[in-house]
Amino acid sequence: MLSKIDIQKFNTLIEISNLINSNYLDIHSLLTEIIDSATRLCEGEASSLLLTDQENQELYFEIALGAKGAEVRQFTLKVGEGIAGWVVKHNKSIIVNDVENDRRYLNTISQQIDYPCKTMMAVPMRIKDNCIGVIELLNKKSDKYFVQEDLDWLEIFANQAAIALINARSIEQARNEIQLLQDQLKIDQGYHTLVAKSQVIMDKIEIIDRVAKTDSSVLILGESGVGKEIFAEQIHIRSARRDKPFVRVNCAALPEGLLESELFGHVKGAFTNAVNNRRGRFEMADGGTIFLDEIGDLPLALQAKLLRVIQQRTFEKLGSDTSITVNVRILAATNKDIEALVGRGEFRTDLYYRLNVLPIYIPPLRQRTEDIPELAGFFLKKCMRETKKQFEGFSRKAMESMLAYSWPGNVRELENCVERACVIGKTKWIEEEDLFLKPNIQPSIHDEGDRSLKTAINSFKAHYIQKALDENKWNQTETARVLDIQRTYLSRLIKELEITNPKE
Ligand SMILES: Nc1ncnc2c1ncn2[C@@H]1O[C@H](COP(=O)(O)OP(=O)(O)OP(=O)(O)O)[C@@H](O)[C@H]1O
Ligand SMILES: [Mg+2]
Repeated sequence: MLSKIDIQKFNTLIEISNLINSNYLDIHSLLTEIIDSATRLCEGEASSLLLTDQENQELYFEIALGAKGAEVRQFTLKVGEGIAGWVVKHNKSIIVNDVENDRRYLNTISQQIDYPCKTMMAVPMRIKDNCIGVIELLNKKSDKYFVQEDLDWLEIFANQAAIALINARSIEQARNEIQLLQDQLKIDQGYHTLVAKSQVIMDKIEIIDRVAKTDSSVLILGESGVGKEIFAEQIHIRSARRDKPFVRVNCAALPEGLLESELFGHVKGAFTNAVNNRRGRFEMADGGTIFLDEIGDLPLALQAKLLRVIQQRTFEKLGSDTSITVNVRILAATNKDIEALVGRGEFRTDLYYRLNVLPIYIPPLRQRTEDIPELAGFFLKKCMRETKKQFEGFSRKAMESMLAYSWPGNVRELENCVERACVIGKTKWIEEEDLFLKPNIQPSIHDEGDRSLKTAINSFKAHYIQKALDENKWNQTETARVLDIQRTYLSRLIKELEITNPKE
């Protein structure tokens, strides 16, 4: 065991324990921090953390630090192959101070990246005796050899890394299961899952959270397929009316007479086919919420009736003089330019003002590309469950083409596109060809939306950093060096600007 306690190493160990306990860093940054410290303290020149992929018995480089780190990350090893593979196979630590002459040593990697390795030590990352990965340090500085004390310290750090990793995996698994159950519960009730990543949509969610608590009417605006109905559902689910009915009516789907009966009901004999009394949607929604989709298509006569419901909460069924009073919250949506309809006299000004108390505009997908990877991943998982097919995800090219595409049909188009790709895809990854994206019709620079300088600068920053990360295979230490900033600052920017690794 350790002969005397080295105070610097001891303090680092305390710092690492605190970090693991703090939840401040994501798992990749945390592991990087751990092996970075281990490398420094044991005076290694380079280091890697390899994880075991149980399925194909391979080791892949989760982290590789040092001059050739970025290049090393492209390689994989078979269990049993090379010194790291030996460590996993035998679940034992090892010091090799004459690497060139060790027959276990696999010199293909070091030859390909042109990085000679002289001394090395490697330790298993264990969870209850099970080896889940390896940490290896290369080339002790100043031409020295690694000694037993270095190995003891590396084992301590490897234990910390293993605990951190297993914690993160358990949390991730629990989160996924909870999300799945919550989704299933909502789907069983006929609701959809709202997926959101971009700041604009996060801001909208904050607004609807506040709006949900009131009984005001809400008008949801935005192009076709942006998710207006999903937002209406969310307002209902987040309101005190959530256990009462959420009733949907598409005002464009029925001719005027039928729509009136649909909305307000009728009594027997009200018209030729009215053989029975019928409750309308407003009555069904009593205590809950009614969602009037395509409100711009509501005929003028019904607009007057709707205005009265909003003002007095009363109406009469078709063919009846008796007033019915309901307690219904009204949400409406349209993809039409409703102000233009008002201007042309096709939509009542007074109704417009009553509905427009709280307008919510959902921006088109091309103005919030950060949502694309998240949504695409969500739809792919959903489709994989339904079709029982398995994909690793989207290839880099596929993701790039989705990010560059203008999505005139918005989220609905993305959903259809991913579904189709999932059905026809034949390889491990969804490829660009599986998506069948049409060339962009128009550039989107004339779109309205958030034009503030801050948003523009953040968007530039996010793109710039993303590019640098991509170029450095998402090695944050390398990227930080290239960008000439501290790695901790880079981690923070990645979080704040919500930059995601398209391969993850
Ligand atoms: N943020 C989102 N997260 C998950 N799914 C979404 C999201 N936004 C939209 N969708 C999905 O995209 C499809 C279109 O959404 P929705 O019907 O809400 O759009 P819309 O704005 O009402 O379109 P339209 O104007 O054509 O009626 C739906 O299947 C919906 O579930
Ligand atoms: Mg809709």
